[in-house]
Amino acid sequence: MLKLAAKDREQLMQSARDILRRAYAPYSGFKVGAAVMTGEGKIFTGCNVENASYGLTICAERSAIFSAVANSAGGKLSLRAVAVVNEKEVPCPPCGACRQVISEFGAETVVVFKSERGYEELTIADLLPSSFKLARS
Ligand code: THU
Repeated sequence: MLKLAAKDREQLMQSARDILRRAYAPYSGFKVGAAVMTGEGKIFTGCNVENASYGLTICAERSAIFSAVANSAGGKLSLRAVAVVNEKEVPCPPCGACRQVISEFGAETVVVFKSERGYEELTIADLLPSSFKLARS
């Protein structure tokens, strides 16, 4: 499995911690921050944004990825890594929807998240085998 350089991992996790303060989570009280590193080494961040209509909530991971897409110049985004942190420092693996969105931008993307065993690094292919890919006839 491809590992992140310690320097990149630290920078990514610090960026995720920095954005955590901006999370809007008045309903769950669970603030999440995420940072992504593109194939070019650029970092983009995002936080969860909840809504009174609960199902409209966006997770921190997707918020960070959408920001990366919106702010990158042309071509398909390639994701080197994603880090996710939460204010409570409890286990928080990315949800299924976020796994599918991460997998769109690279099967080897490394995901750093807190599990029951502390911070772990797994590739998105490990976290989401058989992700959906659109097959056109
Ligand atoms: N949440 C994230 O932002 N990322 C995750 O990986 C898991 C869950 C958010 C969604 C919601 O605002 C809150 O955490 C509680 O589910």
